[in-house]
Amino acid sequence: MTDPHAPILASLEALRLGYASRFEAATSEQTLRDENAKILGKKGDLPEILKLMGSVPAESRKSIGAKVNELKTEIEAAFEKRLHEIVAGARKKDLEAPPFDLTLPGRAPSPLGHKHPLSIVREEIVDIFVSLGFQIHDGPEIELEENNFTKLGFPPDHPATDMQDSFWTANGLVLRTHTSNVQVRAMTTHKPPMAFVAPGTVFRRDDDATHSPMFHQIEAFLIDRHISLAHLKGVLGEFAERFYGPSTPVRLRPSYFPFVEPGAEVDVACVFCKQPDGTRKGCSTCKFTGWIEILGCGMIHPVVFEHCGIDPEEWTGFALGMGVERIAMLRYDLPDLRLFFENDPRFLAQF
Ligand code: PHE
Repeated sequence: MTDPHAPILASLEALRLGYASRFEAATSEQTLRDENAKILGKKGDLPEILKLMGSVPAESRKSIGAKVNELKTEIEAAFEKRLHEIVAGARKKDLEAPPFDLTLPGRAPSPLGHKHPLSIVREEIVDIFVSLGFQIHDGPEIELEENNFTKLGFPPDHPATDMQDSFWTANGLVLRTHTSNVQVRAMTTHKPPMAFVAPGTVFRRDDDATHSPMFHQIEAFLIDRHISLAHLKGVLGEFAERFYGPSTPVRLRPSYFPFVEPGAEVDVACVFCKQPDGTRKGCSTCKFTGWIEILGCGMIHPVVFEHCGIDPEEWTGFALGMGVERIAMLRYDLPDLRLFFENDPRFLAQF
């Protein structure tokens, strides 16, 4: 018959001979702790050995139990010693290493993002108007028909109000077709004098190289006593100077918008074919005219004032509106506006 003590004694002896080299092999605090857990932890070698106690005769359990405890204490002490060695070693290495240079520049986690070209242009334009004293005003993109059309003097049968040109919601609201709705909103909630600049998103049923169903406009308008076309021209000249450079020529061409009288379109001298002496030789961008159209404007129509509860005998004002995409296409000499919305990083990274 085999000695019932043999298996447990053999296992204890194997562990006693092995643990020191196992701790020695661990070179980091973590591997040492892992190794320790494999020996003393819940499912470790020692608890495994203790399971063999069951087959040990009752009279020798006490003495074998004492052996187990002794080995356990021995292992714990060896663990503490090795832990101390490893921690002290790591600390020594740290202290001997070249000092950490706090003045080194930081490392960016990934290439930094940057602004979308439309944001760059929009912010630049809005900043110019803000610096001229205009305050930023917001307006809704989903609008009542009266604020987008009727109060601005669009006759009920105007083609822009029909299904071909605008997007309508099922309950009869319109996705605003221009930022001029902000004129109506501001005039209804504010008393003149006022000067606002309103950047925003607008929507039309249009889709080709120079039109997108969703695009952006910036509206600016100013209302006070005795405001005349001269003030409008002054602001336009100042805008052209700041956006396109000193002494950029500006011209107004008569044009029609229902909510202004007189109305005009504004051209600036073509920036692409400008010669050193200021003359323009003509190019495909300006269609060989030497001029580029940048916005629509005019004196606010008395009818709009009346619709908004402002007395046109006392107050006058001007309004202007421009397309951000168009201005950005001209600035960066881009052939197709859809580039702005495709979000190809190779395109966007150039700005
Ligand atoms: N709302 C006009 C458009 O979208 C632009 C405009 C604004 C014209 C203000 C005159 C005055 O075309």
